[in-house]
Amino acid sequence: MSVGITLDGKRALVTGGGSGIGMTTAGILREFGATVAITDINETGLSSSSAILGGCPAFVCDVADESQAEATVQAAADALGGLDITVNAAGVVDEVKFALERDMAPWQRIMDVNLRGTYQVCRAAGRIMVPNGTGAIVNIASVNGPGGWPRRTAYGPSKAAIIALTRELACEWGAQGVRVNAVGPGYIATPMIQGLVDAGKVDTERLNNRTPLGRLGTPAEVGQTIAFLASDMASYITGETLFVDGGWMAYGGAGDVKTF
Ligand SMILES: NC(=O)c1ccc[n+]([C@@H]2O[C@H](COP(=O)([O-])OP(=O)(O)OC[C@H]3O[C@@H](n4cnc5c(N)ncnc54)[C@H](O)[C@@H]3O)[C@@H](O)[C@H]2O)c1
Repeated sequence: MSVGITLDGKRALVTGGGSGIGMTTAGILREFGATVAITDINETGLSSSSAILGGCPAFVCDVADESQAEATVQAAADALGGLDITVNAAGVVDEVKFALERDMAPWQRIMDVNLRGTYQVCRAAGRIMVPNGTGAIVNIASVNGPGGWPRRTAYGPSKAAIIALTRELACEWGAQGVRVNAVGPGYIATPMIQGLVDAGKVDTERLNNRTPLGRLGTPAEVGQTIAFLASDMASYITGETLFVDGGWMAYGGAGDVKTF
């Protein structure tokens, strides 16, 4: 038995590959031996990621659009010669507004990208993986799935639903050899979080103080965990959400972890 992660011969699609966790994860999957394709709604980010990733196949796609999601997963599988791994890293952040001040259209868009988009890509990947009798899907939830805090009444529910969706699909497709898991990142230093910091909606020092490991995570720390869950090293794991959060979920005290 070989020890360590290898993805030799695996063919992987990563959504949200134009930035942050998706781009980094695609690179890590490649390092472990997979051939990758990426998709993103942002054409500029997508083409620069593709160049970094050795000119890998890249498809512009809004995952919230059913026909685009279906066509893109099939096009990626055609380009790669099959599909063994799908990572759902496309996502959008919350508006960070109080519930009583929210309009429904932006709320719905967050749900459509994060939840519906993840579902549509999973379903399209399942159409290929289930008849093949093998495959691994990794979704991205968040500590904001099980945890609640103010001004996240779209993002939090979308991520809680991704945890539930991951369980449902794992139960539905397990007998056909398709595993479905999720990672639940804490705060990770990506353009998404930098945008919230720049807008004054997130304070990095407070996050560091609330996190047992005392710092934000890196995209690579999430990508490594995704690679593990997608690999045969995780062959008996399905339906799980593995938190990659520096201990955020473990901490239950009041105030800063250092001074409590
Ligand atoms: N960064 C964090 O702290 C953190 C924490 C928990 C969960 N997450 C989740 O991780 C995932 C990746 O986030 P990130 O931090 O790398 O953010 P990011 O903004 O750097 O990357 C997200 C990517 O998704 C793409 N995208 C957005 N809407 C899309 C759509 N409709 N169709 C296709 N692509 C779309 C964006 O263009 C972008 O390239 C998201 O699901 C996010 O919710 C991030």
